[in-house]
Amino acid sequence: MDMFVVRGGRPLKGRVRVSGAKNAALPIMAASLMADGPITLHDVPDLVDVQTLSQLLGTLGVATDRQADDSLRLEVFDDSPVVADYELVRRMRASICVLGPLLARRGRATVSLPGGCNIGDRPIDLHLKGLKALGADIRIERGYVIASAKRLRGGRVFLGGSFGSTVTGTCNVMAAAALADGVTTIESAACEPEVADYGRLLNAMGARIEGLGTPFLRIEGVKSLSGAEHHVIPDRIEAATLLIAGAITHGDVVVENVCTAHLSAVLDKLNDVGVGIEIAEDAGSDRSTLHVLPVDRLTPTECSALPYPGLPTDVQAQFMALLSRADGISVVTDKVFPDRFMHVAELVRLGASIHREGQSAIISGTNRLHGACVMASDLRASAALVLAAMAADGESVIRRIYHLDRGYEQLEKRLNSLGADIRRVEDCSENVPASLSLTQPVSSAGSLTTDECSDPAMKLDEGRQLRFDEAETLSLPQSPAKSKANHDPMR
Ligand code: EPU
Repeated sequence: MDMFVVRGGRPLKGRVRVSGAKNAALPIMAASLMADGPITLHDVPDLVDVQTLSQLLGTLGVATDRQADDSLRLEVFDDSPVVADYELVRRMRASICVLGPLLARRGRATVSLPGGCNIGDRPIDLHLKGLKALGADIRIERGYVIASAKRLRGGRVFLGGSFGSTVTGTCNVMAAAALADGVTTIESAACEPEVADYGRLLNAMGARIEGLGTPFLRIEGVKSLSGAEHHVIPDRIEAATLLIAGAITHGDVVVENVCTAHLSAVLDKLNDVGVGIEIAEDAGSDRSTLHVLPVDRLTPTECSALPYPGLPTDVQAQFMALLSRADGISVVTDKVFPDRFMHVAELVRLGASIHREGQSAIISGTNRLHGACVMASDLRASAALVLAAMAADGESVIRRIYHLDRGYEQLEKRLNSLGADIRRVEDCSENVPASLSLTQPVSSAGSLTTDECSDPAMKLDEGRQLRFDEAETLSLPQSPAKSKANHDPMR
């Protein structure tokens, strides 16, 4: 397993290009199950999640090939398999996106329930409600969704839930409706750009979907869908992460290949907190190049993560990292995933002052983050930790970065090209920098003193708290070599 060693305190400078959107590419790849010919996709990022889905699609009779021009070609070679096994589905929740296409094209689907994850319970009741409304027979047995329908028929579906609509659920119901008899209307459909991109791919395959990007979709079923070629939209979450990387390091960064129309809420909030961004539209396309200007002072703010076009929940953690450096108190609320706060405790380890109140976090900004060992809990939490570590004084270690590799393509290489100092090393105590090793009493360890840290307690490992006053009286060994082997509190 790898970890990052980040040396912070370096303003980023330079140009970086945004990749294709992971959350558009994954359901789009799954739609290949319904095609009667090859699907060629451009701008699919090379991510662990993409590889996992390719593997799952392989078990479902779809061959996936990366071509010399970096496009991805998917083609069905066997249309009989209908089982999406737990061993693959549990590795990636987006696997649920095969449910609608399998049911629509093969009349049957047995898909493992994905289960919860670190950002919440993540039920799929709305997916199932939508498919039932189109005539599917659905039951849950031994952790699997078992769905069947001789022929789906159009219907009226309302997809609103307590936390808004559902992104992948809308894709699943759209897929099923595309091959159903008659007309389906979906009300309270998710409006996220990734859902609209999915609909555009289906239309390129011959589907008849109107209203993409709005909560009201009208889908006229067709008998079959053909192969197609499609360009995946740029990743708005990656774009936001890179913009915040510029701002949090007080850097001067140019971010290319951005659809600004997809980022209105993010740009509005960045403007609120005092981040200056110059936008240059690329001639003849819907893409822009954004220049993040160096920031002197970040202003605190209140913001809520909401369904699109609101501030995305997928940038909530990165925003929180930024606000931890603002000049005053900010409040961040997540109304999509009210429990998505695993990053709070880790940001606190980096010197942020944050406490959680229900579905909100209250952040008292500080101009001093400091290096520490932290643990990534999910994809966007990892990104937030990388951002905070780049802004912190001294060195940090970020563990469990496999979460990051699921959704960002070579993030550390791209940040290093902007002047960051991030090393990917094997996760072992020997690779933890000496500056983070408490072989000395805390007050003489260098970067940490009681005066510099706003948090009264410093977490050393899961379940054990070491207070500064205790640390100062601990009898820690003098020999660094011996301490590494036996007493390293970071082990
Ligand atoms: N929900 C239900 N019932 C359902 C489905 C969802 O109550 O049947 C609730 C969820 O628990 C949540 C809210 O509705 O509170 C929204 O969930 P949604 O179904 O929209 O999420 P998703 O489709 O599982 C996608 C992205 C997530 C992103 C969310 C919200 C993909 C592959 N995943 O998940 O991306 O956070 O939409 O925008 O598209 C990420 O990239 O880090 C990530 C987690």
